[in-house]
Amino acid sequence: MESTKRIDAPRLFFAADAEELAKRAASRVVEIAQRAIAARSRFVLALAGGSTPELLYRMLVERYRDVLDWRRVEVFFGDERLVALDDPRSNFAMAQRTLLRHVAIPESRVHAVPVTLPPEQAAAQYEQSMLATVPPVVAGGPPAFDLILLGIGSDGHVASLFPGAPTLDAVRQYVAAAAPGVLPPPVDRITVTLPVVNAAGAVIVLVAGESKSEVVARALQRSEDPHMLPICGVRPIDGDYEWFLDQAAAKRLSTNTEK
Ligand code: 6PG
Repeated sequence: MESTKRIDAPRLFFAADAEELAKRAASRVVEIAQRAIAARSRFVLALAGGSTPELLYRMLVERYRDVLDWRRVEVFFGDERLVALDDPRSNFAMAQRTLLRHVAIPESRVHAVPVTLPPEQAAAQYEQSMLATVPPVVAGGPPAFDLILLGIGSDGHVASLFPGAPTLDAVRQYVAAAAPGVLPPPVDRITVTLPVVNAAGAVIVLVAGESKSEVVARALQRSEDPHMLPICGVRPIDGDYEWFLDQAAAKRLSTNTEK
C-alpha cells in the first residue's frame, strides 16, 4: 500500500502556439524556482533536451534574466546524447546556446554529463554527482529535484526512456545508459530513470506541434502500459504534474479549453 499519493493525471495548460506555450511555461518555471529559493535558498532543475524547450529557454532569458536570482540555480540534464558538448546534437550545447551562457548561473552549478566516458560509466558518474548535489526525500532514495522538465517523443518516450527499454523498470538506478531509440539522433545516451522523475517536487512536460497530437491523446487516456508508452510511467509522488501544450498538440483532445 503506497503511503503517498501518486499524481496520475497532469494539470493541462493550453496555449495558442509555441510562443505562447513558452511564455506560460517560463512564468511557471520561475514561480517554482522562486518558491524553492525562498524555502531552501536553491532551485535544482533538470533540463529537457530536444527542440521543444528551446523557446522556453530563450523566454527565460528574455523575460527573467534580471528577475530570477540565477546564482541560486543548480542545473542538471534529464538526459544527454553521448556526443561532444559542442556537438549540435548535444542537449548541453542547446542549453548553453539558448539559456546558460546568458544568465548568471555559476559554472560550478551547471552539471554537464561526462560524455567522453563509455555509457555505463558516464551514467554511474553522473548518478554520483547527482546524489552528491541533490538531496533525496528519503535516505537512500532518488535525488529529489525541485523541477524536472520533459519533452515527449511521438513514440511516447520521455528523457531517453524509450518504449521497451529495460531502464523503464529501474528502481534503485537513478541514471542509466540508454541505447539509441528509433527517433533521431541514433547515438548512445544517458537518462534519468522514472524514480527520479517521480520524486521531483514538480514535473513539467512541454508539448508542441501536430506531430505530437496522437501521442498526447494516447497518453492522457492513461490506459497504456508504461513499457509501451513511457510517458505513462510519469506518476509523480506528491509533486506537481503539469503539461503545457499548444493547440496543435492538443487538437485531438475534447477538453481543449484555454486555462
Ligand atoms: C532528447 C530529449 C527527448 C525529447 C523528445 C522530444 O534528448 O531527445 O530529451 O526526450 O524531449 O524526443 O523532442 P522534441 O522536443 O525535439 O520533439
